[in-house]
Amino acid sequence: MLASRVQHFTESVIRETTRIAQRYNAINLGQGMPDFDPPDEVKEAACKAIRDGFNQYAVTWGTAGLRQAIATKMRAFNGLPWADADEHVTVCCGATECMMATLLALIDPGDEVVIFQPFYENYGPDAKLTGATPKWVPLKDPDWSFDVDELRAAFSPRTKAVILNTPNNPTGKVFSRAELEQVAALCREFDAVAISDEIYEYINFTDRPHVSIASLPGMADRTVTISGLSKTFSATGWRLGYCVAPAAITAGIRKAHDFLTVGAPHPLQVAGAAALALPQSYFDGLRDHYQHRRDLFVPYLERAGFNVRPPDGAYYVMADFSALSALDDVSFVRRMIETVGVAGVPGSSFHDPKDHGRTLVRFMFAKQDDTLRAAGERLMNLRAALGNP
Ligand SMILES: Cc1ncc(COP(=O)(O)O)c(C=O)c1O
Repeated sequence: MLASRVQHFTESVIRETTRIAQRYNAINLGQGMPDFDPPDEVKEAACKAIRDGFNQYAVTWGTAGLRQAIATKMRAFNGLPWADADEHVTVCCGATECMMATLLALIDPGDEVVIFQPFYENYGPDAKLTGATPKWVPLKDPDWSFDVDELRAAFSPRTKAVILNTPNNPTGKVFSRAELEQVAALCREFDAVAISDEIYEYINFTDRPHVSIASLPGMADRTVTISGLSKTFSATGWRLGYCVAPAAITAGIRKAHDFLTVGAPHPLQVAGAAALALPQSYFDGLRDHYQHRRDLFVPYLERAGFNVRPPDGAYYVMADFSALSALDDVSFVRRMIETVGVAGVPGSSFHDPKDHGRTLVRFMFAKQDDTLRAAGERLMNLRAALGNP
C-alpha cells in the first residue's frame, strides 16, 4: 500500500532506543533533547505572546520581528553583512523542515548530494525523499578529519549540493576555516550549493570562532545556512528553525515551506525574537555550561573502558567500545540498557551503509549534572555486567 519513497525507511533507531530505554527505566543519553528548560524570560515571552493574541497564522516565512532578529544575528555572529530580513530569511518548523524545504527547492531526482559521514540521522532520508543520490565522504576517527581527495572524488557534474554540519552531530567536530575553504573551492568549481547546518553554532569549545561557510569568498551566492532555536535555547519542542540564503534560493525555499507547513507557530516566533535578543552573556554561558557537562561526563566514559576523544563542539560524544565488548553496536546498546540502565545511540545509525560505526555508540550530554553523574556511576558497572572483569 505504501509509496516506494517511504517503504524502505526503518523506524528511527534513536526513537526505538528511546522506547527500549523507557521499558528498562534507563537514563536516556540517546535522543538529543535537554532535560532542562529554556531561560525563564523566553518562556515568559511565549506565554505573554499567547495572552497578547498572537494566535493566528503569521506571515508564511516568519514574523517580521523574528526575521529581523535573525538577520541582525547573521550579520554580527555569522559574518554575513548582506543578510536581510525580507530578502534572505525564512523561518520554518525546525531546522528539520529547513533542510527538507531547501532540498525540495534545489534537488531534481537524480541530482547528487555530497554528505559527510557519520551524519545526522535525517540527512539520508531527506536526500532519499527528495530523489537525491547521496555521495558519502568519511570523516575519520579519531579527529574526524576528511581526505580532500576523497571529497573531490565525491563531486561530479551531477553534484547539486553538499551538506555539512558544524559543530557536528554526532562527532563533535568543528570544521576548521581551512577545511571549509576546501569544501567551498569544490562548490565553486562544480557549481554546487553548500547547505550548512549550524544548529550547534554557539556550542563550540575550541578557541577558534564559529565559521559559517557562507562568509567565505564567493559563497554568499551559493550557500544556505540553517540554524534554529532548539539547541541554543533548549527549546526542541518549539519547532523553530530558520534558513538564510541568497534571494533566488530563498524564493524556492519559501514556496516549498508554504506548501509543507504554511508557517511556524506564531506566538513562539514572537518569543523567539526575544530569545535572540538575550545578552551576549547568555550565549557565552551556554557554551560554558556544555563544556562543564562534557568535562564532567567524558572522564566517566574513559574510566568505564570506552575510547573517546572529547568533542570540540555540540553536545554529543562518540565512544568506541571495542575494548569492552565484541558485540555489534545495536546489541551493545541493548545490553547496556538491560544491564546497567544507560541508553546511547548505536554508531551504525549515523552511517550508510550500516556496516560502518559498528564499534561506536553516541552519548549526548545535554543533561543536568546529577543525571550525568548517575549515568556515569551506572557505566562504572558496565565492564562487570558484560562479563568482562
Ligand atoms: C545536526 C542537527 N540538525 C538539526 C536538528 C534538528 O533541529 P530542529 O529541532 O530545529 O528541527 C538536530 C537535532 O538533533 C541536529 O542534531
